Amino acid sequence: MVGQEQGGGRAPRYDVSIIRPELRAERFKLRGEGMPRERLKKIKKALRTLHTLETMAVNIYKFQLTRKRTDLNRQLVTAMCNEMTHLQDVQVKLYEYGWTPSRFRWAYWIVGWVFGFFSRLLGVTRILRTGIWAESKAVDHYAELIETVDWDDETRRIVEKNQADEGGHINRWRTLLEARRAGKAA
Ligand SMILES: [Fe+2]
Ligand SMILES: [Fe+2]
Repeated sequence: MVGQEQGGGRAPRYDVSIIRPELRAERFKLRGEGMPRERLKKIKKALRTLHTLETMAVNIYKFQLTRKRTDLNRQLVTAMCNEMTHLQDVQVKLYEYGWTPSRFRWAYWIVGWVFGFFSRLLGVTRILRTGIWAESKAVDHYAELIETVDWDDETRRIVEKNQADEGGHINRWRTLLEARRAGKAA
């Protein structure tokens, strides 16, 4: 499809050029009524895990950013916004189910800050490599949770879209890294 970019190596079902999908008032609902306890337990654990991961992801990009007017910074803002969307998505789902995020999420905030800030100090190549490394871990984590958790349909679609987005981030950082290598070689 023209103007569409597909993420990850998965079947191309999600448009990763949509950074913040539309979310209308009628899409919000309270969830979990009548679900077996075991199923709920797994969903809760998975949503909390994703919430901490996305907290970390927002901070990685936020602290990789500099004030320079570069295309890399433009793309980092785009990625940060996308991660903020993911964070919103999982936070909304947690509260729709009547749960709250992990009490230890601040630790992931700090880890994200560390990765973001120190990769920024080490330069563009390290920024891109850190992004690729963190996103690859995220894609694997998402894959495991998609496989092992019995999601409700709406939450599953969000989790799958978010995983596709992480794949899209990997593709973007890889393309920039290759362009840099080619530029240096020339
Ligand atoms: Fe994300
Ligand atoms: Fe990402």
